[in-house]
Amino acid sequence: MKTEVVIVGGGPSGLLLSQLLNRAGVDTIVLERASRDHVLSRIRAGVLESGTVEMLRAAGVGARMERDGMEHEGCYLTDDDLMVRINFHELTGKSVMIYGQTEVTADLYAAQDAMGTTILHGVEDVAIHDVTSSAPYVEFTQGGARQRIDCAYVAGCDGFHGVSRQTIPADKRREFERVYPFGWLGLLSRTPPASDEIVYANSTHGFALVSMRSPSLSRYYVQVPLTDKVEDWSDDRFWEELSRRLPQQVAQDMVTGPSIEKSIAPLRSFVSEPLRWGSLFLVGDAAHIVPPTGAKGLNLAVSDVFYLHQALIDALKRNDMSGVEAYSDRALARIWKAMRFSWQMTAMLHRFEGEDDFAPQMRKATMLHLAQSETARRDLAENYIGLPF
Ligand code: APR
Ligand code: PHB
Repeated sequence: MKTEVVIVGGGPSGLLLSQLLNRAGVDTIVLERASRDHVLSRIRAGVLESGTVEMLRAAGVGARMERDGMEHEGCYLTDDDLMVRINFHELTGKSVMIYGQTEVTADLYAAQDAMGTTILHGVEDVAIHDVTSSAPYVEFTQGGARQRIDCAYVAGCDGFHGVSRQTIPADKRREFERVYPFGWLGLLSRTPPASDEIVYANSTHGFALVSMRSPSLSRYYVQVPLTDKVEDWSDDRFWEELSRRLPQQVAQDMVTGPSIEKSIAPLRSFVSEPLRWGSLFLVGDAAHIVPPTGAKGLNLAVSDVFYLHQALIDALKRNDMSGVEAYSDRALARIWKAMRFSWQMTAMLHRFEGEDDFAPQMRKATMLHLAQSETARRDLAENYIGLPF
């Protein structure tokens, strides 16, 4: 086989890149290890920055998001019963869209089907070869047969555990990491959300989050020790713990119900540099992980795709290599700022096991400062709605 760009990974990064490249007449093949059903069963965050919304519209996949998504002009940060509203709209003129990553992925698959692009599922043992030569190629196994695709470029969109990052020699890359000593236990339930807007709640008992997918579908999280298992958490225990951590005003509006899904995710900050090795580019979770506290994971993947799709179109259609040369630095500049924001939000809102008495005072003071200072709220809002691409 032969194509212009092999895209390893059919998550949101790979699919959006394929969508934008094919619309510009660039030929791609997406290689995805899992089945489509598996990819579409993963529940991830649901906050789209305004730039992400614009990108999805520009990619021709905005229709269902416009119809079913919920535009939010603000969110709440709380410390016990103190509630601070961050009015994005007033502070920045922008808003965010509440629309699940699972839905974004489904829309991308539908658009790719309509365009007739090539997405191969169930591929195994992907190996990326000769990306520092003028003739890169990718091998994989499908249905027991080893196959080869010759290409000009390879986009590594295969998530944190993929092969793309590992293809860059260890002595040519640098990894930066911070692992947090807790995870988030998430619960999805067919109940109306306790608040119209997202609530990031810090409390004496630890962090909790109120989020939603629709007016009748809630997504909640509580901070849990890494040693906890989902089986340790009955629905009743979850609701009880959630209500302890939310301001009374919010907890009183909480409607409980059976969980549809429950899972625990660890929190980590991670960046691998550089994002380019010859003709191979790292995109999204393959290159970086943020803790979910600022909802930046998908949004960062989208800004990587923004830089890379332009770079590849310029290279393949106009023989202009400037975007390819600049990709790693341009993407990393934005990535590190989102890393800083997600890290700061995580530190501001979580209880750290074994922390001293000083730490909760700092969190409370940060929240009181936010309550009083429009400048502080504007800074938070500017980061939350998304820094410019
Ligand atoms: N070969 C082929 N496909 C692979 C391989 C491999 N060796 N390894 C992983 N994959 C596939 C996974 O099955 C997955 O579908 O790559 C895809 C990567 O998707 P994601 O992990 O979702 O990563 P990405 O597309 O970068 O999405 C950005 O934003 O909110 C965050 O973590 C969240 O997934 C989200 C991410
Ligand atoms: C979610 O809705 O799943 C969600 C919202 C905001 C976050 C993280 C997750 O910061």
